[in-house]
Amino acid sequence: MTKHIAVMGSGNGSNFEAIVNYFRDKDVKITCISDNLNAYILERAKKSQVEYKYLPFEENAAYFGANNFDLIVLAGYMRILPDEVLELGKFVNIHPSLLPSFKGKDAIQRAFLAGVKVSGVTIHWVTNELDGGKIIAQYPVLIGNSTHFDEFENEIHNLEHALYPIVIDKLLKDEVFDFGDLIGGCKGDCKG
Ligand code: GRF
Repeated sequence: MTKHIAVMGSGNGSNFEAIVNYFRDKDVKITCISDNLNAYILERAKKSQVEYKYLPFEENAAYFGANNFDLIVLAGYMRILPDEVLELGKFVNIHPSLLPSFKGKDAIQRAFLAGVKVSGVTIHWVTNELDGGKIIAQYPVLIGNSTHFDEFENEIHNLEHALYPIVIDKLLKDEVFDFGDLIGGCKGDCKG
């Protein structure tokens, strides 16, 4: 049976586009939702011929009360959702650091400036606490002594685009993400 997901974003929408590309030939319908009428994510939805909707923050409860999704995927959604909305569906979010470190805005830059040698990407359940819900999947990115910020930032974004669709796919199938799913690994059957 076709699964239906909503992808909610307030800005650029590069994760949304990665999700659309991943599910293009799969039995998953996507609706793009933005609380920002001028967000580029809505342009991306138009270009990819994905159903889209401008949804002001105040209308979330009415909308999710009336529309059922198998999963609601936050990708650069810039507001904290209250419990009255969160109880209307299963909400996941992606964050560009290894939570619980570097919650909130500018996490990539703050991690880099702090001098950490390992950062990464986290996908987690959404609660009314900023970047605070239970962790579903994480993947590391190493920062060498000579790593330039742009290089690190690109690596984080590329990882997000690879990781998020796979984890969404797993959640829709009620399966658990494993590192091997991302590297196309041998899932315990490796012989060196
Ligand atoms: C991503 O870095 C994501 O981790 C964070 O917001 C950014 C959204 O980027 N929550 P985009 O709109 O998907 O390009």
